[in-house]
Amino acid sequence: MYVTLKEILKNTRKYKFAVGAFNIHCLEMVPAMIEAAKAKNSPIILQVSPATCKYIGASLLSNLVKYLANKADINVTLHLDHAKDFNTIKEAVDNGFSSVMIDASALPLEENIEKTKEVVEYASKRGVSVESELGTIGGTEEGVALNDGKIIYTHPQDAIKFIEATGIDALAIAIGTSHGQYKSKAKLNFNVLKEIYDVTNIPLVLHGGTGVSNEDLKKCILGGISKVNVGTELNVAWVTAAKENFGKAKVNDSCRDLLIPSNFAVQKVIEDKIDILGSSNRK
Ligand code: 13P
Repeated sequence: MYVTLKEILKNTRKYKFAVGAFNIHCLEMVPAMIEAAKAKNSPIILQVSPATCKYIGASLLSNLVKYLANKADINVTLHLDHAKDFNTIKEAVDNGFSSVMIDASALPLEENIEKTKEVVEYASKRGVSVESELGTIGGTEEGVALNDGKIIYTHPQDAIKFIEATGIDALAIAIGTSHGQYKSKAKLNFNVLKEIYDVTNIPLVLHGGTGVSNEDLKKCILGGISKVNVGTELNVAWVTAAKENFGKAKVNDSCRDLLIPSNFAVQKVIEDKIDILGSSNRK
């Protein structure tokens, strides 16, 4: 079934599990991602950055994901990740995505609220969910977290105000992760997570899932995280297999046969993550 973010996350806080949100990097990955979820009988969120959305095309993406989702016996959401401008979001909504993220987290709180409200107003009328972010998720260099104090934790009082003022369906919070961190391990602040969880009542989202240890991921789920974003780890798995297979191929070998191990590597990463997030056999 093809469902919204609100629908796919609706039982997560109550039963303490998280749904994985996996970044699509190319079209070839998509069937393998759904196969992973089917193998684990788990809900799954497929997400794209605005750059990937532009590369593949919003309509092709949503038609493919809808087709695969409606044939499968699991819930699937298609989500636009980290969009910064209204037009990119409008294109995704108008082309059938079931969820979008507005990332105005670099702006002052009041401006973030205004931008997010505009998106909620447009998306909710069309049955599309909205995620938005508060705080600053850290940066990386060559896969290693930069220890330059750039992470600004989400403030619990801001979170209350933000959720009330905007009407969002899920809140991305900053508790110490960085995007693209795959060579070092993230240091998470579980006290901040607890403080935010205790004063909120909508699903909380952990970005930068690559580089978070399995142990810490499990602690995040127990602490109330509902959605875990994983992107870089899938790309690393895909490219690692592609380097090996393309590197030793003859030019007249079928590219199909060369791509299969990469797609399978992505499937394996997702299956393992689903076990850690506890979303198998959940609706
Ligand atoms: P990683 O690439 O670090 O896994 O982060 C993905 C993400 O948070 C996408 O929004």
